[in-house]
Amino acid sequence: MEPLLKEKTILITGGTSQLGQAFVRKALCHGARVFFTYFRSGEIAQILGKSGARGYVLDLTSVPAMEAFAVSFQKEAEQLDVLIHNAAATADSLIEKMPEEDWDRVVGVNLKAPFYMTKRLLPLLFKKQPSKVFMLVSRAGLSGLYGAANYAASKGGLIAMTKSLAKELGRKKVLVNAINPGFMKAAMTAKLPENVLKKNIQDSPLKTFSDPEEVADFMVYLSSDLMRQVTGQVFHFESRPL
Ligand SMILES: NC(=O)c1ccc[n+]([C@@H]2O[C@H](COP(=O)([O-])OP(=O)(O)OC[C@H]3O[C@@H](n4cnc5c(N)ncnc54)[C@H](OP(=O)(O)O)[C@@H]3O)[C@@H](O)[C@H]2O)c1
Repeated sequence: MEPLLKEKTILITGGTSQLGQAFVRKALCHGARVFFTYFRSGEIAQILGKSGARGYVLDLTSVPAMEAFAVSFQKEAEQLDVLIHNAAATADSLIEKMPEEDWDRVVGVNLKAPFYMTKRLLPLLFKKQPSKVFMLVSRAGLSGLYGAANYAASKGGLIAMTKSLAKELGRKKVLVNAINPGFMKAAMTAKLPENVLKKNIQDSPLKTFSDPEEVADFMVYLSSDLMRQVTGQVFHFESRPL
């Protein structure tokens, strides 16, 4: 297969997530220079590092940590074609029981970090035309999610931010789009009760989970020069009706 990402520099947050790992491996195979961030999954980060990606440990709730990362990343990478905001936190509970810290952490990782990191890395994104920003979102951001108002609000905010930044940054040829990967078998969904998992599968016309490998292939396509003139969109990788 023709490599699709030759000479592309890509940064993905949460490279250690299920989807992140699949994307990092595929982007490397397609010839990209790949940088990723991670938080707790040091062992997975080491494995990704051995395959040729450069990992940075980074707490996306910490502005000083993001600031220090932005400074050293700009020096090391010198260019950036694609920035992917994939890292996400969850801390589910009903609003009566939700501690304020859980609200702040989830909204911090899922919404404030994409704002802060995009803003700080704009000088690199402006150097390449077109460059691309992707936000990993969720159907929860459109339809809400029982027991996860923090997560749903953060993803809904991210969709609105995607559309706003697409309008602001189009003049500089920065394309900003969102990807809803659908309901994947991953650490995030493994925490859900069995009946919720079953219901999601039952509601799916194909009676299946979304496959992170397939989503990562689509992300490779979107990151490549095959996609050049689409911005402000949400791509739904769903087999369930929205
Ligand atoms: N799974 C699904 O069904 C589903 C559905 C819709 C949308 N999505 C979205 O798709 C994306 C990928 O999902 P996934 O299931 O593959 O994710 P995941 O396995 O739950 O992984 C979460 C990632 O976020 C990182 N992270 C968490 N807290 C962090 C913090 N404070 N600072 C920095 N990094 C932090 C984790 O790093 P460490 O592991 O290194 O700690 C990990 O790489 C997410 O944006 C998610 O919201 C997922």
